[in-house]
Amino acid sequence: MRIQVPATTANLGPGFDSCGLALDLYLTLTVCEESSAWQIEHQLAGDIPKDETNMIIQVAKKIAPDLKPHRLVMESDIPPARGLGSSSAAIVAGIELANQLADLGLSRDEIVRLAVEFEGHPDNVAPAILGGLVVCAKQPDRDFYLQHAFPDAAILAVISEEALLTSESRAVLPRELSYSDAVQASSVANVMVAALVAGDLRLAGEMMERDLFHETYRAKLVPHLIEIRKKVAEFGGYAAVLSGAGPTVLVLAPHEVSETLRQELCGLGFEAEVKQLRAEPSGVRVFK
Ligand code: HSE
Repeated sequence: MRIQVPATTANLGPGFDSCGLALDLYLTLTVCEESSAWQIEHQLAGDIPKDETNMIIQVAKKIAPDLKPHRLVMESDIPPARGLGSSSAAIVAGIELANQLADLGLSRDEIVRLAVEFEGHPDNVAPAILGGLVVCAKQPDRDFYLQHAFPDAAILAVISEEALLTSESRAVLPRELSYSDAVQASSVANVMVAALVAGDLRLAGEMMERDLFHETYRAKLVPHLIEIRKKVAEFGGYAAVLSGAGPTVLVLAPHEVSETLRQELCGLGFEAEVKQLRAEPSGVRVFK
């Protein structure tokens, strides 16, 4: 059995902690034979555990404590700590692992509810489960969300070589916004979402770059955002926004300018890889 979970980009500018989009990079978990102890084989860089302290297994065991240990093989082309939902993908893989091995029959809605409990906010986990664009509101009593197809556009991700932890990127945000700033910020977000649903990427892109919730504060951690934004405007792209908490910058553009833009972004000389991605419509999938 294989469990495949897509990468995600959260926020899309002003949809802070609320909007997310699934992308076609994947974490793939192959479930092999039962074993005397949990093991998870992978070739990923860094100190990602290979035993039962791995996040995927921890999540699965919290959902189904009596699971029998298995040998697992993980492959992932989602770079860690780059704002592309790598930890959300791991959480979703862990929930689905428990769902399948313990035959829990969890619905997608139940998987979203559990994933939000683990992650804390829904903007990465919900699109990783449902695919496409997901707009969410986490409320004290329950979470609300709606999935919608993402309009057709070229998507470029400028993925820095340097990692940036979400905790570090959240630490630079203000504790409070004034009432009038909050009204301004949410009105921009509302128009952004309405424009995406209407398929008007030009308007959506303009609203994305008018975010008032987080990007101004985070720009000091991701200084190349401004330079990328200038290039995107010059070459007819729709927008450049931080992907989640950064440092990846997500660029949306019409298909006809995307190759030129890709070359221009590569030519800026940042220590970054520029990847052409697509919106991922399906979310988590299980192959048996
Ligand atoms: N909405 C979150 C943030 C996404 O921007 O901090 C990263 O978890």
